[in-house]
Amino acid sequence: MRILFIWFLYSIALSIGLALKGFRSQSSSTRKTGEKRPPPKKILIIGATGGTGRQLVLQALERGYLVTALARDPSKLGIEHTNLKIQQGDVLDYAAVESAVKGQEAVVSALGHKRYLGPSRILSEGTKNIIRAMEAEGVRRFVCQTSLGIGDSAGFLGIYYTFLVIPLVVPFYFWDKTRQERLIAESKLDWVIVRPGQLTNGEKRGRYRHGSNVGNYIWTVRVSRSDTADFILNQLTDDTYLGTAVGVSW
Ligand SMILES: NC(=O)c1ccc[n+]([C@@H]2O[C@H](COP(=O)([O-])OP(=O)(O)OC[C@H]3O[C@@H](n4cnc5c(N)ncnc54)[C@H](OP(=O)(O)O)[C@@H]3O)[C@@H](O)[C@H]2O)c1
Repeated sequence: MRILFIWFLYSIALSIGLALKGFRSQSSSTRKTGEKRPPPKKILIIGATGGTGRQLVLQALERGYLVTALARDPSKLGIEHTNLKIQQGDVLDYAAVESAVKGQEAVVSALGHKRYLGPSRILSEGTKNIIRAMEAEGVRRFVCQTSLGIGDSAGFLGIYYTFLVIPLVVPFYFWDKTRQERLIAESKLDWVIVRPGQLTNGEKRGRYRHGSNVGNYIWTVRVSRSDTADFILNQLTDDTYLGTAVGVSW
């Protein structure tokens, strides 16, 4: 009983930390308006070999973009297309990121990893490199996937995640997501943070909810990686959520 109570307090404290450390739209004084620019044609996809990243590559090619995919192991991508260039590189290597960003008109990121078990800064350090390279190269539009459960969406993955998955499995990973979001919000870019619910490999429905009220404290909302990719790509040309973090779920 006592252990359960301590676990409850720890989970609540962690949620409060994730709420305060992550990006909070309400506490943001300036909502970026974004200078009017022609829609991007050339985009860089970070995390392209992952579940969402692969969907981003396929759907971006379908939409007619000229796509560069940054991949640590290009052979993992397994997609060939005349409009696709695969650039080998690690997001933690600034020179590789800058070289990939050069000449692009927008960047999207679905960066993630499975090193859950200890403190890590892969998401935040990788994102720091992306932002630095974009600012250096004058590339403005950045759409970055994080997760519900951070900042003003803390707790919105429901009880199962709030009291079990996040405190037990991914506390360090989620903590790094808060740093990642802060870096984006503090950047000079035209950015959108996309926070999906639990991801599935289900099909693209093309219909999903998005906004600041997505998710809830009780049950876990879900969305497929393909619908998440669809929403992320929409943010390249839609200014509705510019300078904010937006939830997405079925
Ligand atoms: N799972 C969920 O239910 C859920 C829910 C909400 C949000 N999210 C978040 O959504 C994001 C995408 O998730 P996902 O499951 O679709 O992705 P994923 O399959 O975990 O893929 C992550 C991608 O990041 C790449 N990556 C990792 N470290 C890298 C590095 N140092 N340099 C370059 N690339 C690197 C991976 O490359 P390699 O192939 O080389 O490893 C892979 O392409 C993640 O941030 C995840 O936390 C997940």
